[in-house]
Amino acid sequence: MDKPFQAMPDIAILPAHYKIPGIGFLPINAFVIKAKEPVLVDTGMSMDSADFMKALQSVIDPRDLKWIWLTHDDADHIGSLQKVLEAAPDARLVSNSLSVLRIRTVWPLPLDRARWLNPGESIHVGDRTLTAVRPPLFDNPATIGVYEDKSEAFFSADCFGAIIPSPARRTDDITEEDLVQGMTGWAGLDNPWIHMVKPDAFNQTLDRVRQLGPKMIFSSHLPMATGKTEQFLEVLAGVPSSTPSVAPNQAMLDQILAQMGGQGQTP
Ligand SMILES: [Fe+2]
Ligand SMILES: [Fe+2]
Repeated sequence: MDKPFQAMPDIAILPAHYKIPGIGFLPINAFVIKAKEPVLVDTGMSMDSADFMKALQSVIDPRDLKWIWLTHDDADHIGSLQKVLEAAPDARLVSNSLSVLRIRTVWPLPLDRARWLNPGESIHVGDRTLTAVRPPLFDNPATIGVYEDKSEAFFSADCFGAIIPSPARRTDDITEEDLVQGMTGWAGLDNPWIHMVKPDAFNQTLDRVRQLGPKMIFSSHLPMATGKTEQFLEVLAGVPSSTPSVAPNQAMLDQILAQMGGQGQTP
């Protein structure tokens, strides 16, 4: 885990990063929206769980949480879900039904803690409305991002993610070249179906974000971004016709192991 910080007066980021040897760093963010009814968005990686709970407690007393919004049930988003549900007895879990049903194949997530949403549906959290939005790119059918109307912020799940050369707090701290390369590469790697999509059809989904017009983008896998929505949409518009990303293969693993002296431990 990295050190939590306030992105805005009522939005805190619980940042972490995952090192991909020989390639770079994938940010792994969770967020606390300090609404009248406070909301946690996602719960990080299991391997960080003890530190995640400390980071969460440094930002808010978990007993004050009223909502846990799960963007989807991938491992890098549910790492501390069970612990948070225990520490936050008054919180309801907001997610797509598929997330809950799949998690229940692993542990008995209580159904009476759940609130099921489909894209387009909303919850009111006292002083603002959170709307479930399917982002233009998603690697899991249960994905629901969050549009938060008070801050005009879009919590975009895996969409707009990037593998970056070093951890950063803000996208302004990353060169444009690294950002475009990292975002394009991640988009293709995490969403290989994008190369089967007609660019015109994909552009319509990008237009829906354009119409939403978020001022802030909080991706699970990118440092926070202010005023960059149009720039990011233009980057994504180029992905369907970009060269498909290729996942690291055995030759790459051999190179990584050689650099590490054959120890198999992340340096
Ligand atoms: Fe995912
Ligand atoms: Fe993810």
